[in-house]
Amino acid sequence: MGAYQIIGGRPLEGAVQIHGAKNSVLPVLAATIVGGGEYTIHNCPEISDVDTALDILRVLGCTAERDGARVCVDTSAAENREIPEELMKKMRAAILFLGALLARFGTATISAPGGCVLGERPINLHLLGLRLMGADYEYDRETLRCRASTLRGCTVALPFPSVGATENLILAALACEGEVTICNAAKEPEIADLIGFLRACGAKIAGTGTSVLQIVGGAALHGTEYGVMPDRMEAATYLAAAAATRGRLVLQGANPAHLQAVIEILERGGCEIAQQQDEIIVRCDRLRAVSPIVTAPYDGFPTDAQAPVMAAMATAEGVSVFEETIFSDRFRHVPALRAMGARIYATERHAVVTGVRRLHGASVEATDLRGGAAMVIAALSAEGESRITKTEHMERGYASFAQALRSCGAQIESI
Ligand code: EPZ
Repeated sequence: MGAYQIIGGRPLEGAVQIHGAKNSVLPVLAATIVGGGEYTIHNCPEISDVDTALDILRVLGCTAERDGARVCVDTSAAENREIPEELMKKMRAAILFLGALLARFGTATISAPGGCVLGERPINLHLLGLRLMGADYEYDRETLRCRASTLRGCTVALPFPSVGATENLILAALACEGEVTICNAAKEPEIADLIGFLRACGAKIAGTGTSVLQIVGGAALHGTEYGVMPDRMEAATYLAAAAATRGRLVLQGANPAHLQAVIEILERGGCEIAQQQDEIIVRCDRLRAVSPIVTAPYDGFPTDAQAPVMAAMATAEGVSVFEETIFSDRFRHVPALRAMGARIYATERHAVVTGVRRLHGASVEATDLRGGAAMVIAALSAEGESRITKTEHMERGYASFAQALRSCGAQIESI
């Protein structure tokens, strides 16, 4: 079990390179299964979730090699094997192999995916769409067996714009006879990135960036070379860290267009943020509270930025109210922030944060990826020493986290 030892109280100052997006590269790696072929993916972050995706590809009989930020995959010889439970349990995105295997082989057997514990994370919307395409399934909450003699074109109207369901349905639709229309599709930039990759492989997909996607099934897919977009949640985390520590950071390689909801909240809180095409410069004195901060599907305020921004608001002047509308249990970081002196009152969906002048160090345990990042941010802004255990949560999604923070003046050690 890893830990970070942090001595807080120093403003972060310097430049951070934003890596490729975790939530883009994972669906892209699953998608390499659909057509078979050789793929080179650039800008792959060196995080454990990518390692898990590569392990899944190897279990399926593919070759998968990493050379720094470049990953080469050959899925030509993929076989339809069951993905071991221990790999499925490591991350939520493992569920995307369902749509990919179904598209390639017409059947898929997988166990329930793991990932961050954020409350109920059902897959009913994935299954609803697959059934409309003609797939049958048996799901006993442990193992899902899915098969389709033919996948057919249809219209799927999602009751909620689920990111994972949209991605899984796009992948399955690639093998449909006819056209699939997904209404109320998720509009997160990572979906557009997946579509960009698939189009580079020869897929015919219209509606990128909108809530109505049209996929023409049956196009011949081939291998390709593709660079994934920058990670907007990594960038949001560093923006919050700069705000919390009253520092100045340059985020190199970030795309500000993907971060408007976060930037707007921080600017309202008094941060000065300069946006260039692929760079964001943030500078902040003591934040002012902003309220309400309501999470929503893109282009609303992202649920993944809720915990990091809450850590920054913990020392803002005034009271901010957070409303979490996406996940039912995404305030699991609150007890740790309170242990550091934050004044937060939380119910299931709301958190009221009364800013204090300073937090103090404490020993806490990371609960999940973004919750753990929030604890790191709080510790960086706090007086004294903190110890944050279970850093494997952060290693799932932040490449060289401690190293990047250290290069900007943070006193943080991985132990
Ligand atoms: C993706 O998760 C991201 N993960 C999450 O990022 C992110 O928080 C989330 O989208 C929302 O933006 C990846 O891309 C790998 P959803 P996903 O399906 O696909 C409900 C991070 O920190 N729902 O949009 O699992 C669900 O319970 C991670 O990087 C159903 O009810 O999110 C939740 O309340 C964590 N039935 C809501 O929709 C379904 O079939 C949003 O889930 C599917 C989802």
